[in-house]
Amino acid sequence: MDWKSQIDKSKLPKHVAVIMDGNGRWAKEHGMPRVFGHRSGVKAVRETAEAAAEIGVEYVTLYAFSTENWNRPKFEVDALMTLLVSTLRGEIRTLNKNNIRLEAIGDLKNLPSKCYKELTEAIEKTKQNTRMTLVLALNYSGRWEITNAVKQIAAEVKAGNIDEAEINNELVNKHLTTSNMPDPELLIRTSGESRVSNFLLWQIAYSELLFIDKYWPDFRKSDLNEAVATYQKRERRFGKTSDQLK
Ligand code: IPE
Ligand code: IPE
Ligand code: MG
Repeated sequence: MDWKSQIDKSKLPKHVAVIMDGNGRWAKEHGMPRVFGHRSGVKAVRETAEAAAEIGVEYVTLYAFSTENWNRPKFEVDALMTLLVSTLRGEIRTLNKNNIRLEAIGDLKNLPSKCYKELTEAIEKTKQNTRMTLVLALNYSGRWEITNAVKQIAAEVKAGNIDEAEINNELVNKHLTTSNMPDPELLIRTSGESRVSNFLLWQIAYSELLFIDKYWPDFRKSDLNEAVATYQKRERRFGKTSDQLK
């Protein structure tokens, strides 16, 4: 099926978020160590970014490392961080060629210093690009983010800069790491798991969720296109009735 031709350009999601899951199980199925699965997932990242840019999506946010992922064996965490550094270094040229800007959300300062340095460098070197923004969620979790926002707002109230009565959705939004992006209309998770695992908890309030059986390393452009075409068939009601939308 040529999913790309099925996509209605007038109804594109502006922001697609992805929980890239299943690297370990993919590797196991191939008789390889988990780390091999992570390495193989890089191709899927490339394909997703390019497919999204080709159809005209403005933001793609990829969940690459959660605050809970530190609880994995040290060997795997180290391998993921090393992979991050080498991938960032290797992809800058392709990102620039494709006019894609890199961004990152999460507790970035608490990443290993080498990763943080490589990340800020890649962000700096791609900041002029305008076609699409690729956001990596690193050392990220929704609860971490919301807790941070609460702390910042509390401090501002205490300092007398804002009044308690001024706290609303918009103000909370402004204190999230995603304050400069629209909420994702579509959230995809690969690997057959149906959970959100602490990803963008606030922002996905009205996202269409799509759970795909494939493991992340097998995800290709056509899967992204199919996901967008499937999203476009959904009726987004935002609390209203179906009749009201017509
Ligand atoms: C996703 O794949 C990558 C990260 C969470 C970093 P997993 O490593 O979670 O693979 P599974 O879910 O164990 O198969
Ligand atoms: C979610 O995957 C985090 C990332 C994809 C980075 P996990 O594999 O860590 O999620 P759980 O533990 O299965 O919920
Ligand atoms: Mg997993």
